[in-house]
Amino acid sequence: MPKYLIQFVQQHPSFRIFELESVAKIFNINVEYNPNDLDVLESLDPSIESPFLYVNIPSDEDVKKICSRAVLIKQVISVWAENKNLKGILEDINSNYDKKFLSNYLVDKTYRIEVDGYGTKYTQPKKLEMMLKISESPLWDNGKVVMKPTDESNHIVWTIQTDFGVERQGMVRNDSLEPRIIFFGQRVARGNRDDIIRFNLQERKYLGTTSMDPELSLVSANMGLVKKGDFMLDPFVGTGSFIIVSSHFGAQTVGCDIDMKAMRKQEECNLETNFADYGLSSHLMGTVLCDNSCPPWRTIPMFDSIITDPPYGVRAGAKKVGYKDNRRNRDIPEECKVGHVPQYIEYKVPDVMADLLELAAKTLVIGGRLVYWLPTSPDYKETDLPRHPCLRLITASCLQILTNRWGRRLVIMEKTINYNDEIHHKSKLTQDDLGQIDPQHKDLRQIVFWKAMGSSEKSLRKEKKKENHKNIDYINERKKINNSDNNNNSNNNNENTDNTKII
Ligand SMILES: C[S@@+](CC[C@H](N)C(=O)[O-])C[C@H]1O[C@@H](n2cnc3c(N)ncnc32)[C@H](O)[C@@H]1O
Repeated sequence: MPKYLIQFVQQHPSFRIFELESVAKIFNINVEYNPNDLDVLESLDPSIESPFLYVNIPSDEDVKKICSRAVLIKQVISVWAENKNLKGILEDINSNYDKKFLSNYLVDKTYRIEVDGYGTKYTQPKKLEMMLKISESPLWDNGKVVMKPTDESNHIVWTIQTDFGVERQGMVRNDSLEPRIIFFGQRVARGNRDDIIRFNLQERKYLGTTSMDPELSLVSANMGLVKKGDFMLDPFVGTGSFIIVSSHFGAQTVGCDIDMKAMRKQEECNLETNFADYGLSSHLMGTVLCDNSCPPWRTIPMFDSIITDPPYGVRAGAKKVGYKDNRRNRDIPEECKVGHVPQYIEYKVPDVMADLLELAAKTLVIGGRLVYWLPTSPDYKETDLPRHPCLRLITASCLQILTNRWGRRLVIMEKTINYNDEIHHKSKLTQDDLGQIDPQHKDLRQIVFWKAMGSSEKSLRKEKKKENHKNIDYINERKKINNSDNNNNSNNNNENTDNTKII
């Protein structure tokens, strides 16, 4: 299989490999890489960390398909030479390839050369100087330089990509510095960054305080394997960020929310008008005003994916229909039943999560994915995760740190067993089956809004923080989870004895 170099973007490092794996699965493309290379890709040591990863992918066409969806890929290069300096690059090109092959390569083609640096920025004169250093090659005998091609299919983008590493950022104009490595090759495709611009929140008319940013919405839809013709649900839809991008990827979508005002504040500007603005109305099956603690769906496998950002009670309050304890008369008079707005009570975050997993167990098709955001703090432990016997955890290690007190994880699960009321009803399951054993997210509001705590609790936490400070909990814990994920994967793939991970 041909070898390609992926350059990932700098954002959301713990999400990148899972997005690549998910997108490859959407298109049924076999992608191989050496799992040891992840130590560099995901390293927290800036002197080692690098966003470049070599992978094997069957063809250029497959690379283009992956790049048409993956938003955390910057570009994919078919590397021709790799060296510490440009003199070495030139020597490699001229010695690794036959002279005739090189001089014929650009016949009847147009091309341009782009120079870019990771951890540095080049001025235009510097870029030209670098291009000149590799000019003495038969490769440039033919072909015509065109900066804005009219025919992309006949146009080649050569790239000189240097890697200085993040540590050397800021030393940008120090020309005496040597890069860690220089790659020279043909760019096969750019990642799907354009969709981030298309769904930019600043240009979306209807928004709420918890609208999910487009990059993470697109990543979530990719993790949910959303594709054309799928049926996708967001049970906590709010302003509809996930259903919009899933519709863009060709799914038919439906959204539910307990609060009409979250979906529709005004007649002329609401979730539906956003769909119309994007030209996606035909993909919206509808919105349902309902409470996810008693969902309106039949227990049959019908959704290909459930992608959602449940309320954690930090910004968007979690509530469910119910009577407050002090309410004396619980019967609604017959004449008030039409148009009756029920009373809401507190919906505890662990219950929100447990109900969500049950909904997924009941309504996802086998192989369908539940993708949801789980609030997390530095005290996170694996037993915090909600579980269900019908669902297999793929990963919970994609972590977005929001402040030093809390963050959120993108949890990805897959339905593996059909729900059976006799075996899987809540009443038949143990706490071990359901997870969330004393989870840290049960009192997240307190963790986030620390001021609300009593002074003794505050000083206790201060002590604890001092103790933990050296460890930088998040970072080490993420490392731990990544390792355990890798171990799990290698245990699962124990037939695959070589060093290469096959997705
Ligand atoms: C974090 S927001 C979702 C934001 C959404 N992803 C967006 O992009 O706008 C959570 C949503 O859950 C809704 N919600 C709270 N309790 C609910 C319940 N019991 N059933 C259904 N929706 C609920 C809230 O009204 C809120 O709109």
